[in-house]
Amino acid sequence: MIHAHVTSWFLGLVLFFVTYMLYKKNAEKKSKIFHMILRVLYLAILATGGHLLAGYLTDPGIVNKGPIIIKGTLGIIMIGLMEIILVQKKRGEGRLLNWVFFWVSLLLVLFYGYAVLG
Ligand code: HEM
Repeated sequence: MIHAHVTSWFLGLVLFFVTYMLYKKNAEKKSKIFHMILRVLYLAILATGGHLLAGYLTDPGIVNKGPIIIKGTLGIIMIGLMEIILVQKKRGEGRLLNWVFFWVSLLLVLFYGYAVLG
């Protein structure tokens, strides 16, 4: 399940950047298709992450559940930010602050995923 999770969020990130570039180039049809595939990947990220999360939360051997809850919350925030950034780009808007949130959340989620949880 961890491999499916890593594969889906990695592919999701790649597709996010591709879709962003396509919106930037005003490639309407292509960007729509890539955005749709990315939304399916959101579901895969949520399903695999949610499954892992449920396993950890119900494991009586894990006493400190804080970091895993933070990790899951950050993952959901990442998905929200990717969607917000893309929809704003589609409308021709762009907010620098969303990119700041995006990079900070990405660093934190990678830190929690690899350094804190291992
Ligand atoms: C774009 C969004 C996301 C990114 C970039 C991301 C990133 C990661 C990374 C780097 C790991 C560690 C992988 C490893 O140990 O090999 C991980 C594990 C995990 N993620 Fe996510 N994740 C995302 C979304 C989510 C969501 C939405 C949830 C929950 C609803 C979630 C829950 C988990 C859980 C429970 C683990 C297991 C931790 C472990 O075994 O070390 N993730 N994720």
